[in-house]
Amino acid sequence: MKTIGLLTSGGDAPGMNACIRAIVRTCVFNGVRVMGIRSGYDGLIKGDIYEMNVSSVADIIQRGGTILGSARSEEFRTPRGKKKAIGILSDFGIDSVIVMGGDGSFRGAKELSEAGIKTIGIPCTIDNDMGYTDYTIGFFTAVETVVDAISKIRDTSSSHGRGNVVEVMGRHCGDIALYAGLAGGAETIVVPEIDVNIEEITDKVISGKKRGKLHHIIILAEGVGNSYELAKAIEEKTDVTTKVTVLGHIQRGGNPSAFDRLLACQMGSKAVKLIMDERSGLALGMKSNHIFEMDLIEAVQVKHKFNTDLYEIARELSI
Ligand code: F6P
Repeated sequence: MKTIGLLTSGGDAPGMNACIRAIVRTCVFNGVRVMGIRSGYDGLIKGDIYEMNVSSVADIIQRGGTILGSARSEEFRTPRGKKKAIGILSDFGIDSVIVMGGDGSFRGAKELSEAGIKTIGIPCTIDNDMGYTDYTIGFFTAVETVVDAISKIRDTSSSHGRGNVVEVMGRHCGDIALYAGLAGGAETIVVPEIDVNIEEITDKVISGKKRGKLHHIIILAEGVGNSYELAKAIEEKTDVTTKVTVLGHIQRGGNPSAFDRLLACQMGSKAVKLIMDERSGLALGMKSNHIFEMDLIEAVQVKHKFNTDLYEIARELSI
């Protein structure tokens, strides 16, 4: 009997639970034994593993986070850690592993695959920084969270005629800022992929103010300068009081959106089917609304392409 182990690794992403549910239910439906590995590769090395069944995944499709727990494991990166992990998999009779996470987690999956374990990677990260797929599980939920925050910030900004720098996550990728900034009607979107100088930002605030605009929302992707320094510079150059909101980990939690749940159901189901077909070393992705698979390493090597069309639209609409 085939035995699949599953783990969630790296930063958690809304929709991971829906994906865990899809994997477990597809396994049970097809008579495949399924084992949950707690706390990512760390838990694998420690043998923190339990058998899952239909009831283990009841009532989780709507929950953010991951019932398996997640971690970023240093030990797994070492040859000793890897050897330990492979030994544990053999002790538990696990011949296949499904890894839900970002590119670091996929590299780990590839190494397991090279050691003879069947592996499939499912892209789960709020950052949407994996170039081979249009979207990663968790991204659109994070965007919804940011859009909701922008709307609330805009209410209070308008009441006081203030500016607000809203700092969002994304590691080195500006997608959360871009999609949420466009959907939230932000005045300026600052991302790592595009250079924006302070004058462009302040000119917009000044012209908006002249037109009687009462809110000025600047979305800043994390890592692109300091939000407090940016707010101070805006205040000095425009005379508009400018506050800062760092959204932080609120973007990682919450009920997954319908889109993320659908992606999770499709990818979870497909991962199990691929393993049943003896396929391995593959990453799942979505392109033009179609779920596909490709080599794990080729997948992580595809550079993420920033959507300059969307950025241009945002620029035109925020005059
Ligand atoms: O990769 C997801 C992410 O939330 C990034 O957007 C962010 O830079 C990072 O993880 C934060 O990591 P941690 O939760 O370990 O501080």
